[in-house]
Amino acid sequence: MRCKAVRSIDPARRQEDPGREVRPRIAGSGRTSARRAWTPFALAALLAPAAWAADAPSFAKDVAPIFAKNCIGCHASGTKLGALSLSTYEEMLQGGHRGPVVAPGKSAESRLYLVIAGKADPGMPLGGEKLAAGEIETIRKWIDAGAKGPAAGETVRLSSAVKVPEIRPRVAVKPQIFSLAFQPGGKMIALGGFREVRLRETGSSKVVRTLGEHADAVRSLAFSRDGTLLAAAGGLPGRKGEVRIWSVEDGKLQRTIEGHADCIYAAAFSPDARTVATSSYDKLIKIWEVASGRELRTLKDHIDAVYALAFTPDGTRLISGAADRTVKIWNPATGERLYTMGEPADGINAIAIHPTGKLVAAAGLDKSIRVWSLGDRSGTLLHSLIAHEDAILRIAWSSDGKLLASASADGTIKVFRAEDLTEIKSIGGQPDWVYGIEFSPDGKLLAAGRFDGSLSIYDTQKFNDLTELRTASR
Ligand code: HEC
Repeated sequence: MRCKAVRSIDPARRQEDPGREVRPRIAGSGRTSARRAWTPFALAALLAPAAWAADAPSFAKDVAPIFAKNCIGCHASGTKLGALSLSTYEEMLQGGHRGPVVAPGKSAESRLYLVIAGKADPGMPLGGEKLAAGEIETIRKWIDAGAKGPAAGETVRLSSAVKVPEIRPRVAVKPQIFSLAFQPGGKMIALGGFREVRLRETGSSKVVRTLGEHADAVRSLAFSRDGTLLAAAGGLPGRKGEVRIWSVEDGKLQRTIEGHADCIYAAAFSPDARTVATSSYDKLIKIWEVASGRELRTLKDHIDAVYALAFTPDGTRLISGAADRTVKIWNPATGERLYTMGEPADGINAIAIHPTGKLVAAAGLDKSIRVWSLGDRSGTLLHSLIAHEDAILRIAWSSDGKLLASASADGTIKVFRAEDLTEIKSIGGQPDWVYGIEFSPDGKLLAAGRFDGSLSIYDTQKFNDLTELRTASR
């Protein structure tokens, strides 16, 4: 199984085409219908590859200019969306995050051709107009004739050597928000985006620091309790999980941990910050020693993707929520699974822990929020509420324990009185899915970061949006 196949609300599904306009939609409803209609191919496609060998297009003269005009804005050495650079022939050969994009002699097996011809998703140029039929044909012929590089002595470096008026993507690549976390102390807010994390001042829109080079979407962010370390987790769908641990003060990368057979959806520091726990689409939870990056243990009992993970404040329990409809309580010191709460009727996307560590809330595809009290050997269901009209994506508990907030695919954020789940406020009209929601440590603010890159910071008295901090303004 791969992230792509997830039936539930899965950021990876949307991240497949990050630049495309995506509207909130319900779980399992498949792709948006916004896909352009690709016109069928001319008869040239029927001709045998050999027929073209004689007048094979040249990389330097024919192919590179097409990349320069249409692709380089997103696929230059420095940008490399999809981990693919088209700046030089050699870099192109290295391929993107799914591997090589050109199979010399075989256009039908070359992602580079398939995505521009509309035969594979996501269509390229992403979010832009389809290439002219002649340009697509040029690339097809060039691949079928062997995808030869520049001739000896002929150098092609698109970003500098080839003179093109001004190259920019036809559509702005929006810096989506896949995750969000307040720094303890509340001075900064971390926003997890596509391959990067932005640290910005809570009170202004100033980006203090950008932490880069992540493998893919940063799906989970966790600060250490003292606010000095930030764990940013994600990885490549279907391939590996990745956690990068950053020193917040100077922006230095402390460590990169790679593990799991699929991407990581949640990461959490133990309260003493000596370990970091991760949960993945591969159904496993792993605990790592921060100082060495060593894997300490694997927690195995979930039978589907594990989307949510949290330590109790005393560090004696680790709690996980998974697509298998369960919430599980673990002893992180031994790896023992203590017990399971199985009431949810569908997959869990999010959990939140009360500041005392004695209660846990979970929510997901069944649109409901449930709150349990945690005993030593079992949990007791205290409240269950069908809170939304569609799947719940994220939930958050305020630091004083009084409020619970939820964000749903139905386009609303709701705030509840935690003790009895009475609805206090509904904030409708969310422009896109909210993948990050958290109360500030002082409880005065509620931040919501969305897939479209927008960020709202609401006050927790009247729930006015204090700032429309457009993250595009970086
Ligand atoms: C607006 C930005 C943008 C533009 C313009 C763009 N791309 Fe992409 N491209 C992306 C992103 C983002 C990805 C990663 C998508 C993914 O696989 O998740 C990508 C991925 C790819 C991949 C890898 C697909 C795979 O599955 O490995 C190929 C090949 C590709 N682009 C080719 C092109 C070509 C050729 C052009 C120009 C005709 C182009 N792109 C223009 C953003 C862009």
